[in-house]
Amino acid sequence: MRMVDLIEKKRNGEVLTDQEIQFIIEGYTNDQIPDYQMSAWAMAVFFQDMNDQERAALTMAMVKSGEEIDLSAVEGIKVDKHSTGGVGDKTTIALAPLVASVGVPVAKMSGRGLGHTGGTLDKLESIPGFHIELTTEEFIEKVNKNKLAVIGQTGNLTPADKKLYGLRDVTGTVNSIPLIASSIMSKKLASGADGIVLDVKTGTGAFMKELSDSKQLAQAMVKIGTKLGKKTMAVISDMNQPLGLAVGNALEVKEAIAMLKGEGPEDVLELCLTLGSHMVVMAKKAESVDEARKALEDAISSGKAIETLKVFIEAQGGDASVVDDVTKFPEAPYKIEVKAQSEGMVKSIEADRIGTAAMMLGAGRATKDDDILLDVGLILHKKIGDVVKVGDPIVTLHSRKEQAEEVVSIVQKAYDIAHEHIEAPTLIYEEITASQGTGFVL
Ligand code: URA
Repeated sequence: MRMVDLIEKKRNGEVLTDQEIQFIIEGYTNDQIPDYQMSAWAMAVFFQDMNDQERAALTMAMVKSGEEIDLSAVEGIKVDKHSTGGVGDKTTIALAPLVASVGVPVAKMSGRGLGHTGGTLDKLESIPGFHIELTTEEFIEKVNKNKLAVIGQTGNLTPADKKLYGLRDVTGTVNSIPLIASSIMSKKLASGADGIVLDVKTGTGAFMKELSDSKQLAQAMVKIGTKLGKKTMAVISDMNQPLGLAVGNALEVKEAIAMLKGEGPEDVLELCLTLGSHMVVMAKKAESVDEARKALEDAISSGKAIETLKVFIEAQGGDASVVDDVTKFPEAPYKIEVKAQSEGMVKSIEADRIGTAAMMLGAGRATKDDDILLDVGLILHKKIGDVVKVGDPIVTLHSRKEQAEEVVSIVQKAYDIAHEHIEAPTLIYEEITASQGTGFVL
């Protein structure tokens, strides 16, 4: 087989066989296929697309390019959740203990990542003493005992994806549904879960800005997972404004704690109940999503969910008393109020700009070696559809510096306040399951 023939084949819109895709991914991972040929191939895929079989073969080839996590020693059906990412997305921190509290085993591998805030690991590390350095044995033992443990990414998972993603980033080939779907699904499949619930964000603050694109991506991922024998479903949720009110590391953990106590923002709760119900059903801990939702609501009102969080924190060396006394979290020294400059109703909040503001305060990293601050961030006081008067505080900045004019101005620009009636946006647009036209018979 020659790479040049396979580039031409895809360029001409033909379908590649499983073996040809395997050849490409193996050759690229082993440095036998150079970047320039792989770039040409990625561009051919960008323009010519891939059919469902090619997408599944590409995903599998990337899974097989590295190690796969074996979670077979974890009792029960392991269900993982993945979000395509957005501003203020603290879902994992609230959702993991919530579903664990009704018996779903959560063996979560999380990353730090780049972006407006740190990743789930960074956020959890704002809990004094909490650590994610566990051996595989400790990790599995803790999941079996407490139904929940979180560990940093270990081993050499999907090296082909790592290399190809880096190449796509500099060759204008990131935004391709088959390449994104296979990239995300390869990482999920290599992490060893039996089922996967995907939270595909849509809107101005999301990777996919248009609902139709988000839907295509969700369908592509559900088809890949289903075809490769994993129960997979997707929820398409709104990212036209940040999720919840808190953006920042410790601030988001505090909001997740509030949610588990039944005191959190409505949108965070609703998203967790929606995603969580599907996880509970997949793990066969309930017969229907309604039954699952009721169990999750009961876990919050009875205190079972917050107890599960405390046990999880303690098991990973953290100080669980922060749950009852959130003043023990790191606290930024300066609180700066951003005030509304006009009156009306909030029409839009550019989540991207809020993310940039968080980043400028120091909550996120631009390169992987940057330090991040755990205490800084923003608390939103107004969301889309809220009434605002001139001078009302719309956001409070939690800052290490006394003055933050530039950040204040970015936040003010993020808010569009209009003289018209504005409804709060829909939170959940659609749920995509394997039976909805994926066309696969397993
Ligand atoms: N996230 C991923 O993991 N991969 C992509 O290709 C895009 C977003």
